[in-house]
Amino acid sequence: MRSYSSKIEEIRQREYGYLNGVTYLDHAGCTLYPTTLMHKFAQDLSSNLFGNPHSASPSSMLSSDRVETVRSRVLKFFNASPEHFDLVFVANATAGIKMVMDAFRDIEDGYWYGYHRDSHTSLVGVREHSKASRCFATDDQVEDWIASTSTAEEDSTMKLFAYPAQSNMNGRRSPLKWCGQVRKNKPNTYTLLDAAAYLTTGSLDLSNFQDAPDFTCMSFYKIFGFPDLGALIVRKSSADILTKRKYFGGGTVKMVLSIDTAWHSKRQEVHESLEDGTLPFHNIVALGHAIDVYAELYGTPKQVSAHASGLAKVAYERLLNLRYSNGAPVCEIYKDERASYNDSTTQGPTVAFNIRQPDGSWVGKSKVEEAAIKNNIHIRSGGVCNPGGVASFLQWDSVGMKKNFDAGMTCGDKNDLMGPGGKPTGIVRISLGAMSSMGDVEKFVHFVEQTYVYGGEMIGNIQPIARLKSEMQPLTSDVPSRVEEKRRMLKNIFRNMTGRNYVST
Ligand SMILES: Cc1ncc(COP(=O)(O)O)c(C=O)c1O
Repeated sequence: MRSYSSKIEEIRQREYGYLNGVTYLDHAGCTLYPTTLMHKFAQDLSSNLFGNPHSASPSSMLSSDRVETVRSRVLKFFNASPEHFDLVFVANATAGIKMVMDAFRDIEDGYWYGYHRDSHTSLVGVREHSKASRCFATDDQVEDWIASTSTAEEDSTMKLFAYPAQSNMNGRRSPLKWCGQVRKNKPNTYTLLDAAAYLTTGSLDLSNFQDAPDFTCMSFYKIFGFPDLGALIVRKSSADILTKRKYFGGGTVKMVLSIDTAWHSKRQEVHESLEDGTLPFHNIVALGHAIDVYAELYGTPKQVSAHASGLAKVAYERLLNLRYSNGAPVCEIYKDERASYNDSTTQGPTVAFNIRQPDGSWVGKSKVEEAAIKNNIHIRSGGVCNPGGVASFLQWDSVGMKKNFDAGMTCGDKNDLMGPGGKPTGIVRISLGAMSSMGDVEKFVHFVEQTYVYGGEMIGNIQPIARLKSEMQPLTSDVPSRVEEKRRMLKNIFRNMTGRNYVST
Protein backbone atom coordinates (compact mmCIF):
# COMPACT_ATOMS: atom_id res chain seq x y z
CA MET A 1 0.00 0.00 0.00
CA ARG A 2 1.66 3.23 -1.15
CA SER A 3 1.35 6.01 1.36
CA TYR A 4 -0.39 9.22 0.32
CA SER A 5 1.99 11.23 2.54
CA SER A 6 4.28 12.02 -0.39
CA LYS A 7 1.48 13.99 -2.11
CA ILE A 8 -0.02 15.57 1.00
CA GLU A 9 0.80 19.15 -0.04
CA GLU A 10 -0.97 18.66 -3.37
CA ILE A 11 -4.03 17.20 -1.57
CA ARG A 12 -4.05 20.05 0.92
CA GLN A 13 -3.94 22.72 -1.76
CA ARG A 14 -6.69 21.12 -3.79
CA GLU A 15 -9.06 20.05 -1.01
CA TYR A 16 -8.55 22.42 1.89
CA GLY A 17 -8.00 25.80 0.25
CA TYR A 18 -10.28 27.30 2.90
CA LEU A 19 -7.48 26.83 5.45
CA ASN A 20 -5.97 29.90 3.86
CA GLY A 21 -2.84 29.97 6.01
CA VAL A 22 -4.43 28.49 9.14
CA THR A 23 -2.53 25.71 10.91
CA TYR A 24 -5.33 23.46 12.06
CA LEU A 25 -4.44 21.16 14.95
CA ASP A 26 -7.80 20.17 16.41
CA HIS A 27 -8.67 17.04 14.47
CA ALA A 28 -9.79 15.27 17.66
CA GLY A 29 -12.44 17.99 17.84
CA CYS A 30 -13.43 17.73 14.19
CA THR A 31 -11.35 16.82 11.18
CA LEU A 32 -11.47 18.81 7.92
CA TYR A 33 -14.03 18.31 5.14
CA PRO A 34 -12.60 18.00 1.64
CA THR A 35 -13.91 20.34 -1.05
CA THR A 36 -14.54 17.40 -3.40
CA LEU A 37 -16.93 15.92 -0.84
CA MET A 38 -18.89 19.15 -0.62
CA HIS A 39 -19.10 19.38 -4.43
CA LYS A 40 -20.22 15.76 -4.82
CA PHE A 41 -22.86 16.21 -2.13
CA ALA A 42 -24.13 19.46 -3.64
CA GLN A 43 -24.18 17.90 -7.11
CA ASP A 44 -26.14 14.87 -5.89
CA LEU A 45 -28.72 16.97 -4.06
CA SER A 46 -29.12 19.41 -6.91
CA SER A 47 -29.69 16.65 -9.47
CA ASN A 48 -31.88 14.24 -7.46
CA LEU A 49 -35.11 14.58 -5.51
CA PHE A 50 -34.74 13.03 -2.06
CA GLY A 51 -38.01 12.76 -0.13
CA ASN A 52 -38.86 11.66 3.40
CA PRO A 53 -37.96 7.95 3.47
CA HIS A 54 -41.33 6.77 4.82
CA SER A 55 -43.44 6.77 1.60
CA ALA A 56 -43.85 4.82 -1.63
CA SER A 57 -43.10 7.74 -3.98
CA PRO A 58 -39.96 7.57 -6.14
CA SER A 59 -38.38 10.45 -4.18
CA SER A 60 -39.02 8.63 -0.93
CA MET A 61 -37.78 5.31 -2.31
CA LEU A 62 -34.62 6.99 -3.54
CA SER A 63 -33.88 8.16 0.01
CA SER A 64 -34.70 4.76 1.51
CA ASP A 65 -32.47 3.00 -1.00
CA ARG A 66 -29.61 5.36 -0.36
CA VAL A 67 -29.96 5.03 3.42
CA GLU A 68 -29.76 1.24 3.22
CA THR A 69 -26.83 1.32 0.79
CA VAL A 70 -24.90 3.67 3.03
CA ARG A 71 -25.74 1.59 6.10
CA SER A 72 -24.17 -1.47 4.44
CA ARG A 73 -21.19 0.52 3.24
CA VAL A 74 -20.44 1.84 6.73
CA LEU A 75 -20.59 -1.69 8.14
CA LYS A 76 -18.19 -2.77 5.39
CA PHE A 77 -15.88 0.15 6.23
CA PHE A 78 -15.43 -1.45 9.66
CA ASN A 79 -15.36 -5.05 8.36
CA ALA A 80 -18.56 -5.67 10.30
CA SER A 81 -20.57 -8.46 8.69
CA PRO A 82 -24.30 -7.65 8.44
CA GLU A 83 -24.93 -11.17 9.68
CA HIS A 84 -23.50 -10.23 13.08
CA PHE A 85 -23.88 -6.45 13.26
CA ASP A 86 -26.45 -3.78 12.63
CA LEU A 87 -25.92 -0.04 12.43
CA VAL A 88 -28.24 2.51 13.97
CA PHE A 89 -27.93 6.07 12.70
CA VAL A 90 -27.91 8.64 15.50
CA ALA A 91 -27.05 12.32 15.77
CA ASN A 92 -23.56 11.81 17.20
CA ALA A 93 -21.51 9.58 19.51
CA THR A 94 -23.24 11.01 22.57
CA ALA A 95 -26.66 10.11 21.15
CA GLY A 96 -25.39 6.55 20.61
CA ILE A 97 -24.26 6.38 24.25
CA LYS A 98 -27.62 7.73 25.41
CA MET A 99 -29.43 5.14 23.33
CA VAL A 100 -27.61 2.40 25.25
CA MET A 101 -28.24 4.18 28.56
CA ASP A 102 -31.94 4.59 27.83
CA ALA A 103 -32.26 0.84 27.30
CA PHE A 104 -30.35 0.01 30.48
CA ARG A 105 -32.39 2.36 32.62
CA ASP A 106 -35.52 0.47 31.60
CA ILE A 107 -34.17 -2.70 33.26
CA GLU A 108 -36.48 -3.32 36.20
CA ASP A 109 -33.78 -4.21 38.75
CA GLY A 110 -31.46 -1.50 37.56
CA TYR A 111 -27.90 -1.88 36.29
CA TRP A 112 -24.32 -1.60 37.46
CA TYR A 113 -22.05 0.67 35.44
CA GLY A 114 -18.27 0.53 35.18
CA TYR A 115 -16.25 3.07 33.20
CA HIS A 116 -12.60 3.84 32.62
CA ARG A 117 -10.93 6.95 34.02
CA ASP A 118 -10.14 8.21 30.52
CA SER A 119 -13.85 8.47 29.63
CA HIS A 120 -15.33 11.55 27.99
CA THR A 121 -18.15 13.20 29.99
CA SER A 122 -20.63 11.66 27.53
CA LEU A 123 -19.71 8.23 28.97
CA VAL A 124 -19.39 9.42 32.56
CA GLY A 125 -22.99 10.67 32.61
CA VAL A 126 -24.33 7.12 32.09
CA ARG A 127 -23.61 6.50 35.79
CA GLU A 128 -26.45 8.83 36.80
CA HIS A 129 -29.13 6.25 36.00
CA SER A 130 -27.23 3.23 37.36
CA LYS A 131 -27.94 1.75 40.77
CA ALA A 132 -24.19 1.52 41.40
CA SER A 133 -21.15 2.55 39.44
CA ARG A 134 -17.39 2.36 39.52
CA CYS A 135 -14.78 4.50 37.82
CA PHE A 136 -11.70 2.35 37.13
CA ALA A 137 -8.72 4.55 37.92
CA THR A 138 -6.16 2.37 36.12
CA ASP A 139 -5.93 -0.35 33.48
CA ASP A 140 -4.79 -2.76 36.19
CA GLN A 141 -8.05 -2.18 38.03
CA VAL A 142 -9.98 -3.02 34.85
CA GLU A 143 -7.93 -6.13 34.24
CA ASP A 144 -8.25 -7.30 37.86
CA TRP A 145 -12.00 -6.79 37.69
CA ILE A 146 -12.27 -8.76 34.43
CA ALA A 147 -10.22 -11.63 35.90
CA SER A 148 -12.02 -11.65 39.26
CA THR A 149 -14.78 -14.10 40.16
CA SER A 150 -17.97 -12.47 41.33
CA THR A 151 -20.72 -13.46 43.71
CA ALA A 152 -23.96 -15.01 42.43
CA GLU A 153 -25.75 -11.74 43.17
CA GLU A 154 -23.19 -9.73 41.20
CA ASP A 155 -23.47 -12.21 38.34
CA SER A 156 -27.22 -11.83 38.16
CA THR A 157 -27.09 -8.01 38.00
CA MET A 158 -27.10 -6.48 34.53
CA LYS A 159 -23.86 -4.63 33.95
CA LEU A 160 -22.45 -2.21 31.42
CA PHE A 161 -18.74 -1.58 31.04
CA ALA A 162 -17.71 1.42 28.92
CA TYR A 163 -14.43 2.91 27.85
CA PRO A 164 -12.96 5.08 25.12
CA ALA A 165 -10.92 3.38 22.40
CA GLN A 166 -8.82 6.55 22.55
CA SER A 167 -8.64 9.19 25.23
CA ASN A 168 -9.80 12.51 23.81
CA MET A 169 -7.43 14.15 26.27
CA ASN A 170 -4.00 12.68 25.50
CA GLY A 171 -4.68 10.22 22.68
CA ARG A 172 -3.87 7.14 24.73
CA ARG A 173 -5.40 4.08 23.03
CA SER A 174 -6.96 1.48 25.30
CA PRO A 175 -6.77 -2.28 24.78
CA LEU A 176 -9.55 -3.35 22.41
CA LYS A 177 -9.21 -6.91 23.75
CA TRP A 178 -11.16 -5.97 26.90
CA CYS A 179 -14.48 -6.40 25.09
CA GLY A 180 -13.85 -10.06 24.26
CA GLN A 181 -12.46 -10.72 27.73
CA VAL A 182 -15.50 -9.20 29.43
CA ARG A 183 -17.78 -11.36 27.28
CA LYS A 184 -15.93 -14.52 28.34
CA ASN A 185 -15.49 -13.73 32.04
CA LYS A 186 -18.29 -11.50 33.26
CA PRO A 187 -21.86 -12.84 33.06
CA ASN A 188 -24.62 -10.41 32.13
CA THR A 189 -22.09 -7.72 31.25
CA TYR A 190 -22.27 -5.67 28.07
CA THR A 191 -19.48 -3.56 26.61
CA LEU A 192 -19.80 -0.08 25.14
CA LEU A 193 -16.79 1.15 23.19
CA ASP A 194 -16.62 4.89 22.62
CA ALA A 195 -14.74 5.08 19.33
CA ALA A 196 -15.38 8.81 18.75
CA ALA A 197 -11.83 10.10 19.23
CA TYR A 198 -10.18 6.89 18.04
CA LEU A 199 -11.78 6.85 14.61
CA THR A 200 -10.41 10.26 13.62
CA THR A 201 -7.35 8.34 12.50
CA GLY A 202 -7.72 4.84 13.96
CA SER A 203 -8.75 1.74 12.09
CA LEU A 204 -11.51 -0.38 13.61
CA ASP A 205 -11.83 -3.95 12.39
CA LEU A 206 -14.93 -5.78 13.62
CA SER A 207 -14.32 -8.93 11.56
CA ASN A 208 -13.79 -10.94 14.75
CA PHE A 209 -17.37 -10.63 15.97
CA GLN A 210 -16.73 -12.92 18.95
CA ASP A 211 -14.40 -10.38 20.56
CA ALA A 212 -16.11 -7.24 19.28
CA PRO A 213 -17.79 -4.67 21.56
CA ASP A 214 -21.52 -5.12 22.04
CA PHE A 215 -22.06 -1.47 21.21
CA THR A 216 -19.68 0.92 19.44
CA CYS A 217 -20.49 4.61 19.11
CA MET A 218 -18.96 7.14 16.73
CA SER A 219 -19.33 10.58 15.15
CA PHE A 220 -18.68 10.70 11.39
CA TYR A 221 -17.60 14.35 11.34
CA LYS A 222 -14.53 13.22 13.29
CA ILE A 223 -13.62 10.66 10.59
CA PHE A 224 -14.62 12.44 7.38
CA GLY A 225 -15.04 16.10 8.43
CA PHE A 226 -18.66 15.94 7.23
CA PRO A 227 -21.54 15.07 7.69
CA ASP A 228 -22.53 15.87 11.28
CA LEU A 229 -23.96 12.44 11.99
CA GLY A 230 -23.22 9.49 14.24
CA ALA A 231 -23.84 5.77 14.55
CA LEU A 232 -24.17 3.03 17.07
CA ILE A 233 -22.92 -0.32 15.77
CA VAL A 234 -24.73 -3.09 17.59
CA ARG A 235 -23.64 -6.72 17.82
CA LYS A 236 -26.84 -8.49 16.86
CA SER A 237 -26.56 -11.21 19.47
CA SER A 238 -26.42 -8.50 22.17
CA ALA A 239 -29.21 -6.37 20.70
CA ASP A 240 -32.03 -7.70 22.89
CA ILE A 241 -31.24 -5.35 25.71
CA LEU A 242 -31.64 -2.38 23.36
CA THR A 243 -34.73 -3.52 21.53
CA LYS A 244 -36.50 -4.13 24.86
CA ARG A 245 -36.40 -0.44 25.69
CA LYS A 246 -39.81 1.01 26.49
CA TYR A 247 -39.87 4.13 24.32
CA PHE A 248 -40.97 4.04 20.70
CA GLY A 249 -41.33 6.88 18.23
CA GLY A 250 -41.75 7.52 14.51
CA GLY A 251 -41.51 4.36 12.44
CA THR A 252 -40.06 2.08 15.12
CA VAL A 253 -43.41 0.32 15.61
CA LYS A 254 -45.47 -2.02 13.42
CA MET A 255 -48.71 -0.90 15.07
CA VAL A 256 -49.80 1.34 17.92
CA LEU A 257 -53.20 1.54 19.65
CA SER A 258 -53.83 4.70 21.59
CA ILE A 259 -57.45 5.77 22.10
CA ASP A 260 -58.80 3.20 24.56
CA THR A 261 -55.88 0.77 24.76
CA ALA A 262 -52.17 1.44 25.22
CA TRP A 263 -50.67 -1.27 23.05
CA HIS A 264 -47.97 -1.41 20.40
CA SER A 265 -45.88 -3.93 18.49
CA LYS A 266 -42.26 -3.08 17.74
CA ARG A 267 -40.39 -3.64 14.52
CA GLN A 268 -37.96 -6.56 14.52
CA GLU A 269 -34.75 -5.39 12.86
CA VAL A 270 -32.39 -3.76 15.34
CA HIS A 271 -32.09 -0.44 13.51
CA GLU A 272 -35.78 -0.37 12.61
CA SER A 273 -36.76 -0.61 16.26
CA LEU A 274 -34.30 2.07 17.39
CA GLU A 275 -34.26 4.83 14.78
CA ASP A 276 -36.89 7.15 16.23
CA GLY A 277 -38.40 9.71 13.91
CA THR A 278 -37.19 10.73 10.47
CA LEU A 279 -33.60 9.79 9.81
CA PRO A 280 -31.20 12.60 8.89
CA PHE A 281 -31.37 11.23 5.35
CA HIS A 282 -29.62 14.13 3.60
CA ASN A 283 -26.69 13.65 5.97
CA ILE A 284 -26.72 9.93 5.24
CA VAL A 285 -26.53 10.71 1.51
CA ALA A 286 -23.48 12.89 2.28
CA LEU A 287 -21.93 10.05 4.27
CA GLY A 288 -21.90 7.84 1.16
CA HIS A 289 -19.87 10.51 -0.67
CA ALA A 290 -17.64 10.98 2.37
CA ILE A 291 -16.64 7.30 2.27
CA ASP A 292 -15.85 7.55 -1.47
CA VAL A 293 -13.79 10.72 -1.18
CA TYR A 294 -11.90 9.40 1.86
CA ALA A 295 -10.90 6.29 -0.11
CA GLU A 296 -9.88 8.39 -3.14
CA LEU A 297 -7.74 10.75 -1.10
CA TYR A 298 -6.35 8.58 1.66
CA GLY A 299 -6.92 4.93 0.82
CA THR A 300 -7.69 3.12 4.05
CA PRO A 301 -7.90 4.03 7.75
CA LYS A 302 -4.66 2.06 8.24
CA GLN A 303 -2.86 4.43 5.87
CA VAL A 304 -4.35 7.43 7.65
CA SER A 305 -3.26 6.00 10.98
CA ALA A 306 0.32 5.47 9.76
CA HIS A 307 0.51 9.01 8.33
CA ALA A 308 -0.87 10.76 11.42
CA SER A 309 1.14 8.63 13.86
CA GLY A 310 4.37 9.47 12.05
CA LEU A 311 3.66 13.18 12.43
CA ALA A 312 2.60 12.85 16.06
CA LYS A 313 5.85 11.12 16.94
CA VAL A 314 7.80 14.08 15.54
CA ALA A 315 5.56 16.58 17.36
CA TYR A 316 5.93 14.71 20.64
CA GLU A 317 9.69 14.40 20.39
CA ARG A 318 10.19 18.01 19.37
CA LEU A 319 8.05 19.37 22.18
CA LEU A 320 9.57 16.98 24.70
CA ASN A 321 13.08 18.13 23.80
CA LEU A 322 12.45 21.88 23.83
CA ARG A 323 14.62 23.48 26.51
CA TYR A 324 15.22 26.94 27.91
CA SER A 325 18.80 28.21 28.02
CA ASN A 326 18.97 27.14 31.69
CA GLY A 327 18.19 23.59 30.58
CA ALA A 328 14.64 23.60 31.99
CA PRO A 329 12.03 21.80 29.83
CA VAL A 330 9.43 23.97 28.08
CA CYS A 331 6.62 21.41 27.87
CA GLU A 332 5.24 19.03 30.43
CA ILE A 333 3.65 16.32 28.28
CA TYR A 334 0.86 14.12 29.64
CA LYS A 335 1.63 10.81 27.97
CA ASP A 336 0.22 7.66 29.53
CA GLU A 337 3.00 5.42 30.77
CA ARG A 338 1.53 2.48 28.84
CA ALA A 339 1.50 4.40 25.59
CA SER A 340 4.26 4.94 23.06
CA TYR A 341 4.37 7.26 20.06
CA ASN A 342 6.17 4.40 18.29
CA ASP A 343 3.12 2.15 18.62
CA SER A 344 -0.23 3.23 17.16
CA THR A 345 -2.07 0.50 19.07
CA THR A 346 -1.28 2.37 22.30
CA GLN A 347 -1.12 6.01 21.21
CA GLY A 348 -3.14 8.14 18.80
CA PRO A 349 -1.85 11.33 17.12
CA THR A 350 -2.59 13.70 19.98
CA VAL A 351 -0.18 15.52 22.28
CA ALA A 352 -1.53 16.93 25.56
CA PHE A 353 0.72 19.22 27.55
CA ASN A 354 1.24 22.42 29.49
CA ILE A 355 3.97 25.00 29.16
CA ARG A 356 6.31 25.99 31.94
CA GLN A 357 8.43 29.11 32.24
CA PRO A 358 12.22 28.85 32.75
CA ASP A 359 11.71 28.98 36.55
CA GLY A 360 9.29 26.03 36.41
CA SER A 361 6.10 28.08 36.94
CA TRP A 362 3.20 27.44 34.58
CA VAL A 363 1.84 29.36 31.61
CA GLY A 364 -1.98 29.32 31.63
CA LYS A 365 -3.55 27.05 29.01
CA SER A 366 -5.88 29.74 27.69
CA LYS A 367 -2.91 32.12 27.30
CA VAL A 368 -1.23 29.52 25.10
CA GLU A 369 -4.38 29.10 23.03
CA GLU A 370 -4.75 32.89 22.68
CA ALA A 371 -1.14 33.20 21.52
CA ALA A 372 -1.70 30.33 19.07
CA ILE A 373 -4.80 32.05 17.64
CA LYS A 374 -2.79 35.24 17.09
CA ASN A 375 -0.44 33.10 15.05
CA ASN A 376 -3.20 31.53 12.98
CA ILE A 377 -2.88 28.20 14.78
CA HIS A 378 -6.04 26.43 15.92
CA ILE A 379 -5.67 24.15 18.93
CA ARG A 380 -7.79 23.11 21.91
CA SER A 381 -7.25 23.94 25.55
CA GLY A 382 -9.16 23.27 28.75
CA GLY A 383 -10.55 20.28 30.57
CA VAL A 384 -11.57 18.86 27.16
CA CYS A 385 -14.60 17.04 28.67
CA ASN A 386 -12.28 14.47 30.21
CA PRO A 387 -12.58 14.87 33.98
CA GLY A 388 -10.81 11.63 34.95
CA GLY A 389 -7.87 12.10 32.60
CA VAL A 390 -7.34 15.73 33.58
CA ALA A 391 -7.62 15.03 37.32
CA SER A 392 -5.12 12.14 37.13
CA PHE A 393 -2.50 13.77 34.95
CA LEU A 394 -2.71 17.19 36.61
CA GLN A 395 -2.91 15.58 40.05
CA TRP A 396 -6.10 17.10 41.29
CA ASP A 397 -8.04 15.16 43.90
CA SER A 398 -11.80 15.64 44.34
CA VAL A 399 -11.31 17.97 47.32
CA GLY A 400 -9.04 20.25 45.29
CA MET A 401 -11.43 20.22 42.31
CA LYS A 402 -14.39 21.08 44.54
CA LYS A 403 -12.37 23.95 46.06
CA ASN A 404 -11.66 25.24 42.55
CA PHE A 405 -15.36 25.01 41.75
CA ASP A 406 -16.28 26.87 44.95
CA ALA A 407 -13.73 29.53 44.02
CA GLY A 408 -15.60 30.06 40.73
CA MET A 409 -13.96 27.70 38.26
CA THR A 410 -16.14 25.91 35.70
CA CYS A 411 -15.24 23.68 32.74
CA GLY A 412 -13.98 25.67 29.80
CA ASP A 413 -13.34 28.95 31.62
CA LYS A 414 -10.11 30.91 31.92
CA ASN A 415 -9.23 29.98 35.49
CA ASP A 416 -6.05 28.39 34.19
CA LEU A 417 -3.98 28.10 37.34
CA MET A 418 -5.49 27.49 40.76
CA GLY A 419 -4.69 26.19 44.21
CA PRO A 420 -1.47 26.64 46.17
CA GLY A 421 1.39 27.61 43.88
CA GLY A 422 -0.94 27.97 40.87
CA LYS A 423 -1.37 24.52 39.33
CA PRO A 424 -2.89 24.01 35.84
CA THR A 425 -6.60 23.20 35.78
CA GLY A 426 -6.53 21.99 32.19
CA ILE A 427 -4.30 21.19 29.27
CA VAL A 428 -3.26 22.35 25.83
CA ARG A 429 -3.99 19.78 23.14
CA ILE A 430 -2.84 19.40 19.58
CA SER A 431 -4.29 16.59 17.50
CA LEU A 432 -3.47 15.53 13.96
CA GLY A 433 -5.59 14.10 11.18
CA ALA A 434 -5.51 12.47 7.78
CA MET A 435 -4.62 15.73 6.03
CA SER A 436 -2.10 17.09 8.58
CA SER A 437 1.39 17.75 7.30
CA MET A 438 4.91 18.03 8.65
CA GLY A 439 4.57 21.75 7.99
CA ASP A 440 1.76 21.88 10.59
CA VAL A 441 3.99 20.22 13.15
CA GLU A 442 6.94 22.47 12.34
CA LYS A 443 4.78 25.58 12.54
CA PHE A 444 3.46 24.64 15.96
CA VAL A 445 6.83 23.69 17.44
CA HIS A 446 8.30 26.83 16.01
CA PHE A 447 5.46 28.87 17.52
CA VAL A 448 6.14 27.42 20.99
CA GLU A 449 9.83 28.04 20.60
CA GLN A 450 9.44 31.61 19.36
CA THR A 451 6.76 32.59 21.86
CA TYR A 452 8.17 30.98 24.98
CA VAL A 453 11.85 30.13 24.47
CA TYR A 454 12.78 33.31 22.64
CA GLY A 455 10.01 35.29 24.29
CA GLY A 456 8.97 37.15 21.14
CA GLU A 457 5.62 37.30 19.42
CA MET A 458 5.44 35.44 16.14
CA ILE A 459 2.60 37.02 14.26
CA GLY A 460 2.08 36.10 10.64
CA ASN A 461 4.31 33.69 8.82
CA ILE A 462 7.30 31.81 10.10
CA GLN A 463 10.15 34.26 10.47
CA PRO A 464 13.15 34.12 8.16
CA ILE A 465 15.58 31.43 9.10
CA ALA A 466 18.55 33.81 9.17
CA ARG A 467 16.94 35.86 11.92
CA LEU A 468 16.10 32.80 13.90
CA LYS A 469 19.62 31.54 13.65
CA SER A 470 21.09 34.77 14.94
CA GLU A 471 18.58 34.86 17.81
CA MET A 472 19.43 31.35 18.78
CA GLN A 473 23.15 31.73 19.29
CA PRO A 474 23.31 33.67 22.56
CA LEU A 475 20.65 31.51 24.16
CA THR A 476 22.34 28.23 23.55
CA SER A 477 26.02 29.00 23.16
CA ASP A 478 26.72 27.59 26.62
CA VAL A 479 25.49 24.17 25.52
CA PRO A 480 27.26 23.18 22.28
CA SER A 481 25.32 19.93 21.71
CA ARG A 482 22.08 21.85 21.92
CA VAL A 483 23.29 24.29 19.30
CA GLU A 484 23.82 21.38 16.93
CA GLU A 485 20.38 20.05 17.72
CA LYS A 486 18.78 23.43 17.04
CA ARG A 487 20.73 23.81 13.80
CA ARG A 488 19.42 20.46 12.61
CA MET A 489 15.91 21.50 13.49
CA LEU A 490 16.19 24.85 11.70
CA LYS A 491 17.58 23.13 8.62
CA ASN A 492 14.56 20.85 8.64
CA ILE A 493 12.22 23.84 8.89
CA PHE A 494 14.04 25.47 6.02
CA ARG A 495 13.78 22.30 3.89
CA ASN A 496 10.10 22.06 4.68
CA MET A 497 9.39 25.65 3.79
CA THR A 498 11.44 25.84 0.64
CA GLY A 499 11.89 22.26 -0.55
CA ARG A 500 15.67 22.97 -0.65
CA ASN A 501 18.54 22.10 1.64
CA TYR A 502 19.91 24.96 3.72
CA VAL A 503 23.47 25.86 2.80
CA SER A 504 25.35 27.92 5.37
CA THR A 505 27.00 31.10 4.02
C1 LIG B 1 -13.89 10.18 23.18
C2 LIG B 1 -15.09 11.01 22.86
N1 LIG B 1 -16.30 10.57 23.22
C3 LIG B 1 -17.41 11.25 22.96
C4 LIG B 1 -17.36 12.46 22.33
C5 LIG B 1 -18.62 13.20 22.05
O1 LIG B 1 -18.81 13.25 20.67
P1 LIG B 1 -20.08 14.04 20.09
O2 LIG B 1 -19.98 15.41 20.65
O3 LIG B 1 -19.89 13.98 18.61
O4 LIG B 1 -21.27 13.32 20.55
C6 LIG B 1 -16.12 12.99 21.95
C7 LIG B 1 -16.03 14.32 21.32
O5 LIG B 1 -15.02 14.94 21.22
C8 LIG B 1 -14.96 12.24 22.22
O6 LIG B 1 -13.76 12.68 21.87
